Amino acid sequence: MSLPYAEPYKIKMTEQIYRSTQEEREQWIKEAKYNLFKLKSSQVYIDLLTDSGTGAMSDKQWAEMMLGDESYAGASSYYKMKDAVKNIFGFDYFLPAHQGRAAENVLFSAMIKEGDIVPGNSHFDTTKGHIEFRKAKAVDCTIDEAFDTTLNHPFKGNIDLNKLENVLKNNPKEKIPLIIVTITNNSSGGQPVSLQNMKGVKYLADKYGIPVFYDSARFAENAYFIKIREEAYKNKTIKEIVKEMYKYADGMTMSSKKDAVVNMGGFSAMRDENLYKKASVYNIMFEGFITYGGMSGRDMNALAQGLYENTEFEALEARIKQVEYLGNKLIEAGIPVQHPIGGHAVFIDAKKFLPQISKEEYIAQTVAVELYIVGGIRGVEIGTVLADRDPITRKNRYPELELVRLAIPRKTYTNSHMDYVAAVCKKIYDTRHEAKHGLRITYEAPIMRHFTAEFEKIK
Ligand code: F0G
Repeated sequence: MSLPYAEPYKIKMTEQIYRSTQEEREQWIKEAKYNLFKLKSSQVYIDLLTDSGTGAMSDKQWAEMMLGDESYAGASSYYKMKDAVKNIFGFDYFLPAHQGRAAENVLFSAMIKEGDIVPGNSHFDTTKGHIEFRKAKAVDCTIDEAFDTTLNHPFKGNIDLNKLENVLKNNPKEKIPLIIVTITNNSSGGQPVSLQNMKGVKYLADKYGIPVFYDSARFAENAYFIKIREEAYKNKTIKEIVKEMYKYADGMTMSSKKDAVVNMGGFSAMRDENLYKKASVYNIMFEGFITYGGMSGRDMNALAQGLYENTEFEALEARIKQVEYLGNKLIEAGIPVQHPIGGHAVFIDAKKFLPQISKEEYIAQTVAVELYIVGGIRGVEIGTVLADRDPITRKNRYPELELVRLAIPRKTYTNSHMDYVAAVCKKIYDTRHEAKHGLRITYEAPIMRHFTAEFEKIK
């Protein structure tokens, strides 16, 4: 009999969390205008808002913090990070940035202009925001299977190569500056992209002369799924799989707050020296000199160390199996979730959870607010609020999926916390028929409204 997995680490430090009462939470969420982003973290018991920047660093990463070189130019920390990027991804050129969207801002400033088209697989909201801010268009070419939450497809993050080829064929080459492949695909449920699909994308990209960039926030989790689900790679190490994945990319952006398990940091990397030179100008303008780009030396050290540690199979197995543990508990309770369970989060299918609420009343936001009120759990809406308005018509965009994401920070919570979360979800699900109405927006910003929107309960 094979033994079960267990975490390849033990815990050296803890942080107290306050378990509030439902009465307190009802008051707090009302004051926060029913937007979970507006809560104080001290008002949250279990914080599953994001797995971004919220993980627990290792002792070795903390040790690296002490070794940071804070020189303005040419710091040893820069070279440590440069070596890690070269060793792990194979890119010669890289630019540090303070986080993922900053790397997008730098890279897109050098690549995207008004009227351009950027195909990809469910671009993340900051990615789409940076594309649309430049008056360009993000075209979603994700496979249709991704939008059926009940379907068990091993690589729901995949790009539909026919959809992609249609975009490439029907638009002039000069209008398509790059293709962006998001690994794993966050917006459609933390779903991976297969290596075969990456090869397919690269083949088409080469045929039409378009560069491919990976949005790499959760690249290591994606590599884990390739090892587990793609026969040809089952005997490869995660590091070997990552090397292979990036053979089919011309560059990348990374929010290192996810798979490098740091609290802050990111970068862009590329093969093309000319692009590097062009992007360097924007890096200096927006982020900082090219050898620190918005990061402290100590942060670059921790990031480099994190990249090496978190491309080990055992680290990824413990992480992904904890997410799966929570997912299976919800499935046992009959709660509709995205199948298969994603890499970093469990996604509740809110349309199936509350079918009686109309889409105009922000179904997923309604479920997320209930999770907070009943259990002090903070998840996040991935639905109509996040999808925002069409930049031209200003009409609400109603996405196919209305999801509540419960993102699990890395190495932060135990499985007892997961049991508690599952019990809260079940309690709400068992009384779901009592919900009559959702929410109405009373204020929203012109772009990326989900962070600051204000709501009221519809009576
Ligand atoms: N790309 C993906 C796929 C992401 O998930 C994120 C961030 C970014 C880019 C932007 O990175 O936050 O460092 O600027 N996702 C976080 C989340 C915010 O909660 O999923 P960032």
